Amino acid sequence: MKVYLDNAATTKIDPVVLEEMMPYFTEFFGNPSSIHAFGRKPKSAIEKARKAVAKYLNASTSEIFFTSGGTESNNMIIKRSITDLGVQRIITSPAEHHCVLHSTEAVEKLGIHVDYVKLDNKGNVDYNHLEELLANDSRKTLVTIMHANNEIGSMTDMEKIAELCAKYNAYYHSDTVQTIGYFPFDVQKTKVHFLSGASHKFHGPKGCGFIYISSGAMVKPYLDGGAQERNMRAGTENIYGIVGLGRALELAAENMQANREHIEALKKHMISRLQEEIPGVKFNGDVENGHYRVLNVALPPNGKSDLMLFNLDIAGIAASAGSACSSGSDIGSHVLKSINADPACSNIRFSFSRFNTMDEIDYAVDKLKEIMEIKVEEKVG
Ligand SMILES: Cc1ncc(COP(=O)(O)O)c(C=O)c1O
Repeated sequence: MKVYLDNAATTKIDPVVLEEMMPYFTEFFGNPSSIHAFGRKPKSAIEKARKAVAKYLNASTSEIFFTSGGTESNNMIIKRSITDLGVQRIITSPAEHHCVLHSTEAVEKLGIHVDYVKLDNKGNVDYNHLEELLANDSRKTLVTIMHANNEIGSMTDMEKIAELCAKYNAYYHSDTVQTIGYFPFDVQKTKVHFLSGASHKFHGPKGCGFIYISSGAMVKPYLDGGAQERNMRAGTENIYGIVGLGRALELAAENMQANREHIEALKKHMISRLQEEIPGVKFNGDVENGHYRVLNVALPPNGKSDLMLFNLDIAGIAASAGSACSSGSDIGSHVLKSINADPACSNIRFSFSRFNTMDEIDYAVDKLKEIMEIKVEEKVG
């Protein structure tokens, strides 16, 4: 059996999405910048996808720009807010994705001040500390704090952060790469200036994403070149990617509640089996209030811990030691460090999708127990 439980790293493309993309590899291959008929078809497909994203966010189409993914969107906003919006200080969290942390480190080298908001041991933001940071420094500030953490699933209250940013006249960017397609958004209600999305996290293709830039906070292009994306993002468009992104987001929005219920049931089932059958198991992050598709399990120290992921892989189960980008390296997860996770435990991130089944969860738990050599008589409760 092959069980894919690494959906926070990337998701399987939905066959319906792939079908929608296919003609743009073949029949409709024109360059959307061309004014002839070959260019017009892909051009209108891009605008259709833009409308789907704008509708999902309740934004204007003029505020949506396609990019190569979450990394580019996050880099763009952090770096361009310095050059174009007069930002002199950034507030972020120590548990952000490396594309945010490394971008803030890059601008810090250029003289920008960076503050890190405190997190509790479940990865939740200390909002009092955030307010203190905002209140104690009058420099123009960009707050960049993610919506859901990709390793532990802990979530931030976007409404609260938006209110604080409005109160102290700061720009607010949220890395929503893990939540676009999984939660409803309304940028008319939540006063956020920038949101980043990546299609491959919601059953769309890789290498395609978007940035929402509110009309009051327009920046200049991050890539210089042609006039694509209304002069905001140069380079011939990734048409099939954009078409796939739009369709994947439409499907995610249409089926959000049903998908959520299905995934939540899988997560709950895994939690209860692990709690009942693996003595001493714990969870990293905020299991109750975190993202419903992420479960970071802290397995008690065990002779088999070191090779846990390897053994799971041999058993056909794909999971992750943290974010995909850090797995395989021995530096350990900066996210787990930021919440003082027990270094003696073997920490494994399981992340689910609507394509997973209860049988797959049972198989994964059974194999986990087998690897840990937990026998039935050790069961507690
Ligand atoms: C929270 C978060 N931000 C940003 C990214 C980067 O997105 P992309 O892979 O599309 O560049 C990821 C992907 O792992 C992520 O989980």
